[in-house]
Amino acid sequence: MPRTIYFDYNATTPLDPAVRATMQPFLAEIWGNPSSVHHVGRKARAALDDARDRAAKFLGAKPSEIIFTCGGTEANNLAIFGTARALKAKGKHLITSSVEHHAVLQCFDYLEKNEGFAITRLPVNLEGRVAVEDLKRALRPDTTLVSIMAANNEIGTIQPVAELGAVCRERGVIFHTDAVQWFGKEPFANIGQFNADLVSVCAHKFHGPKGAGLLYIKSPLHPDPIFFGGGHENERRAGTENLPVILGLVVALEKFIKPAVFERLKLQPLTMKLLQSIQNIEGCEIVSPRQNCLANTVSFVVRGADGISLMAGLDLEGICASSGSACSAGSLDPSHVILAIGQKSAANSLVRFSLGRDSTAEEVDYVCSILPEVIRRAQLAGKAASGL
Ligand SMILES: Cc1ncc(COP(=O)(O)O)c(C=O)c1O
Repeated sequence: MPRTIYFDYNATTPLDPAVRATMQPFLAEIWGNPSSVHHVGRKARAALDDARDRAAKFLGAKPSEIIFTCGGTEANNLAIFGTARALKAKGKHLITSSVEHHAVLQCFDYLEKNEGFAITRLPVNLEGRVAVEDLKRALRPDTTLVSIMAANNEIGTIQPVAELGAVCRERGVIFHTDAVQWFGKEPFANIGQFNADLVSVCAHKFHGPKGAGLLYIKSPLHPDPIFFGGGHENERRAGTENLPVILGLVVALEKFIKPAVFERLKLQPLTMKLLQSIQNIEGCEIVSPRQNCLANTVSFVVRGADGISLMAGLDLEGICASSGSACSAGSLDPSHVILAIGQKSAANSLVRFSLGRDSTAEEVDYVCSILPEVIRRAQLAGKAASGL
């Protein structure tokens, strides 16, 4: 078995040992239920309150504006279902984009199909970017919520979120951004920089634990809950709080966001080298934008090959990549992001390399040396499959 080269940091990152160490006491001695009134429970409650205060301080928010969730998917679901339903008396028109993660897109699909909402899905340009003018045109008097991601998981496009948020604020429309891929990769100062009322964050994308995230909810917005059964999280999310991962999330936030653990200065030359090498391979076309793109992400499509053969070929060489969002790996569904940027014929052949903290120049050199042959083999398999 060749050595492992992990170029799939947008799917997940390894748990940092120091983060794991701070979680340890909450898997052992501090095990109480924060809702219990006795001293064992009160000890857990104190830790939970402290974690919320620290998260709020770090983000520049009020503690009551932080809702701990089990990750990015739940944060998105709470933001979208909770807000759409809470404001439905005001209007039932919602806006999103065509390149969102499925954890956003499928919430809107559900609301459209089952609850009578009208959805506008904004188009994107060839780089996967939403135009502020398109948002302005799409807003209606009955629009209550707009949800546009901060950075795209498949091709790395950074959206003009602050501008989109400012437009919404001016028009009195709630703005949500899925910033799951953005945190830890771009410079963060304060949660206010997004001009958003709702921001989704997920710990395992920046060396925190899986199953941990948060939703920032700017007061006084009060989305309807999507979980029922208790008054936890300020009446917004029922269920006994998962202290070990909440602590892991908070420590990872404090450690890896300011400065960003995905260092642009280190990663840019590495992804640049990959990009130059990919450009020279017959049939390959880069689909990540040249500017306003996550520095760790290089995505490309391969004419005449499919994502599964490409992933398998890379994996045989020890290289972990992705053919789109991890959630659709294993299926041959075309990438909705590649379709949205107008590359219909190549939507089944996406390859995403996403680098991170431990990626090295030597790994990049190795991938560049092996890639032409892996691609040639996948194209041959594609030819054989199509009977050419
Ligand atoms: C942009 C984006 N949103 C949401 C999610 C879902 O996050 P989680 O894995 O925490 O449910 C992901 C995960 O890949 C993502 O990339």
